[in-house]
Amino acid sequence: MILNRPRRNRSHEVIRSMVRENRLDLSDLLAPLFVLEGENKKIEITSMPGQYRFSLDLLLEEIKELYELGIRSVAIFPALEESRKDKWAKESLNTDGLYLTTLKEVKKIFPELIVMSDVAMDPYSSDGHDGLVCDDTGEILNDETLSILTEMSIAQAKAGADIIGPSDMMDGRVRAIREGLERENYKNTLIMSYTAKYASHFYGPFRDALDSAPKKGDKKTYQMDYANSREALREAQLDTEEGADILMVKPGLAYLDIISELKKKGQLPIAAYNVSGEYAMIKAAAEKGWLDEQKVMVEMLTSFKRAGSDIILTYFAKDMARLFREKI
Ligand code: PBG
Repeated sequence: MILNRPRRNRSHEVIRSMVRENRLDLSDLLAPLFVLEGENKKIEITSMPGQYRFSLDLLLEEIKELYELGIRSVAIFPALEESRKDKWAKESLNTDGLYLTTLKEVKKIFPELIVMSDVAMDPYSSDGHDGLVCDDTGEILNDETLSILTEMSIAQAKAGADIIGPSDMMDGRVRAIREGLERENYKNTLIMSYTAKYASHFYGPFRDALDSAPKKGDKKTYQMDYANSREALREAQLDTEEGADILMVKPGLAYLDIISELKKKGQLPIAAYNVSGEYAMIKAAAEKGWLDEQKVMVEMLTSFKRAGSDIILTYFAKDMARLFREKI
């Protein structure tokens, strides 16, 4: 005689739905977007089918579409011409430059949209690193980078960014940025820290999108070793003490254990970044007819919720929002 039959709870869709532990919600999704200079440009990213680099005019149209589909938060990344890049990422402070103009314009037209910025040197750096590179040794200089990141953050807050997203992994940056924001009276600007950002090979397509791959070396002296999980707890503790509001784990799919740990052991909300390579894998397999793209997308996004993510940054945001619409 079998007394306990777990299958009873799976026997009917209504029952399955009643006992379902986690649900994806439209409000969980944050859409990453890429902006480039010029007008009337929409250039598909080869390794990310369905994702584009938009000039500002078309970016606004894309955001309008997302907004109408119910997406209320975006993260914007700039793709700059090589000629704008230098050692110190000076272009990041140019108030008439592409990025700050974009933030201002987006917030002007969509004041209710939550806009997250990217804080790191790589989109503006001729070295392609997230921090300042020492000419002699090639070392990534931590403390010298902090003031650059702080200035960048203040400029972005001034331009209207609601959430500052430091993606650089320098030590002490959350504190430096938080103090800078307080000093300038941006008391309500959130920091979503890329807390556990791993030195991952899943970022390849993103670096294609921005032409931001390091010119020399790799990012292993600042991004985390993918073999480690306890180290993520240390980073989480520091970011929490330093004034972060939300902690992010990146990449997401191969790091669900980290999401789960940080959720259980910490106090702050957790975001997962479902990165470019994770998107590319599914797209490629679906193009070959090897996976059902839509079903795998929903399963993957739900797994982020199950692991403990409150927020999911995903290139699938628009497709998922469309699916929500169809279902209603
Ligand atoms: C860099 C940054 C990266 C991503 C977001 N910000 C790449 C990197 O660290 O080289 C990757 C996002 C993705 O792969 O989707 N500051």
